[in-house]
Amino acid sequence: MAKIKNAVFAVLVIFLASFFLGCVGTKETKLEPKAEGKALYSYITAGNNYKKWDKWPGTREFYPKSAGSPHGDLLITYVNDKALPAIQGKAGSLPDESIIVKENYMPDKTLDALTVMYKENGYDPAHNDWFWAKYSPTGEVQAEGKVGMCNDCHGKQKDNDYTFTSPLK
Ligand code: HEC
Repeated sequence: MAKIKNAVFAVLVIFLASFFLGCVGTKETKLEPKAEGKALYSYITAGNNYKKWDKWPGTREFYPKSAGSPHGDLLITYVNDKALPAIQGKAGSLPDESIIVKENYMPDKTLDALTVMYKENGYDPAHNDWFWAKYSPTGEVQAEGKVGMCNDCHGKQKDNDYTFTSPLK
């Protein structure tokens, strides 16, 4: 009788343990933004899809690029929930973990590239901690990191936290 009890107990323990481990094993890993090209792309597409974010305040879908911009002819610019209140509140700069995703379209509205700015505390203090990335429409990383070209041109807007789209003050 004791043997049967032990056997039942053992089965129960194994069942509970595998159930518990199974739950832990299948739990979704939460994606966090990170200053690395592929990881950031996963975050903005799977972890926290930028298509659900607000557009940069005052911009609409397929707005035409401004003179001197090297980006697409038509643009859609999204901002995450860290950047949005700072832009709306004229905070002067954008806080840690701000993300800006700009879709760059050709004149016929085919997507050409995504250009992204992500701010990570301590990443690049000489350039307001911006991490830069450019992706093909399918997510291949075309440029990432402390990209000199991005920093140089956006650096003209140093007083506006390296952004062009609208004044932050
Ligand atoms: C020669 C200048 C120049 C270079 C180089 C450049 N940008 Fe820009 N960028 C602009 C301008 C101008 C705008 C404003 C776009 C507009 O309204 O037409 C802009 C806008 C943006 C925005 C929207 C946020 C903002 O600044 O208002 C992002 C994101 C961005 N660029 C990312 C990048 C990345 C990533 C790179 C490098 C791979 C890059 N840019 C290189 C000039 C440049």
